Amino acid sequence: MEAYPVPERRRFINWFLGTSFGALALSVLYPLVRFLSPPRIPEPGTAQIEAGSADDPVFREKGFKIVRFGADPVIVVRAAENDFRALSATCTHLDCIVGFQKERNRIWCNCHGGAYDLTGRNIAGPPPRPLTAFKVNLVPKSGSAPTVVVSKA
Ligand code: FES
Repeated sequence: MEAYPVPERRRFINWFLGTSFGALALSVLYPLVRFLSPPRIPEPGTAQIEAGSADDPVFREKGFKIVRFGADPVIVVRAAENDFRALSATCTHLDCIVGFQKERNRIWCNCHGGAYDLTGRNIAGPPPRPLTAFKVNLVPKSGSAPTVVVSKA
């Protein structure tokens, strides 16, 4: 007895339903797995983080770097050769991320023109409070420039 061949249209429908179900399952499971898996950034309560080498070209060229301290962005500024400052990078006005104006030696918020000095004190524009300061240590590293380590002040 000869089996009936599966019609082309039926194979297409089977393939279409099979892949649709797979895509639906993937679109539901992927966000669920991403939500349940922990983020790769350090958790709040982190004691300290490394902001890189003191001779990192980014510090030399731009004068600053934004790093994550737990969930919070922190701006690390190279004020002088071995003088680094770390401040919260969240503007106290409306929470924009601040930057550093190397030529004016100040922290600057592009959103509404807020400015802070390198101690974090609000000196111009709408920010109502200073930026939170962090502690910076230069940890010696054998054979190369020290590592910039940021911790809670
Ligand atoms: S958010 Fe920074 S000045 Fe407004």
